[in-house]
Amino acid sequence: MKPRVGVLISGRGSNMQALIRAAANADYPAEVALVISNRADAVGLDIARQHGIAARAIPSRNFRTDRAGHEVQIHEALIGAGCTIVCLAGYMRLLTPEFVTLWAGRMLNIHPSLLPAFPGLDTHARALAAGVKIHGCTVHLVTAAMDEGPILAQAAVPVLPDDTETVLGDRVLTQEHIIYPMALLHYIDSKPTHPESVAALLSPCA
Ligand code: GRF
Repeated sequence: MKPRVGVLISGRGSNMQALIRAAANADYPAEVALVISNRADAVGLDIARQHGIAARAIPSRNFRTDRAGHEVQIHEALIGAGCTIVCLAGYMRLLTPEFVTLWAGRMLNIHPSLLPAFPGLDTHARALAAGVKIHGCTVHLVTAAMDEGPILAQAAVPVLPDDTETVLGDRVLTQEHIIYPMALLHYIDSKPTHPESVAALLSPCA
């Protein structure tokens, strides 16, 4: 059986869609089993459903001061769907160290810069302001420190003289849609999901 992937989003979900499209290929080594958004109005939820993927909103605004309580719901939904891998795809809520530890080595993220350059927000504007000539995107494993963790894949794009934030962002996003499915594929091929580790994942909720 292919490992089941849960994708966490907050908005338009174009990277989620790239993962869903790749996983629709019979040769792809993973299945997108569930999409979860912390925002009920995320466009990506509708896109996932149009692809026939289960999609759920677990609104973080219901858990303003209870970050851990929100993550318990997310964790239980992921485990309930049989997910053993999580892909963050534009998920805009900080995760607690406890959740990150629970999914250590099994949670990937895509970030719109060539890490370690430009962690955090507004990466394209900051790249333009810094005058860099090369920009890009990174897929990495998630660790407790934001936008750190082992790098799985990167793609570089040129920064051109007349670039605006939007034009540069679109150039990067095109590459994101290529490297995220590719990085997940290589991650799975290099690190098969063993049943015993799935059991370990289930135990904290038992
Ligand atoms: C992407 O640029 C991704 O790198 C960043 O958030 C954005 C999400 O876009 N983490 P989308 O929702 O996948 O279209």
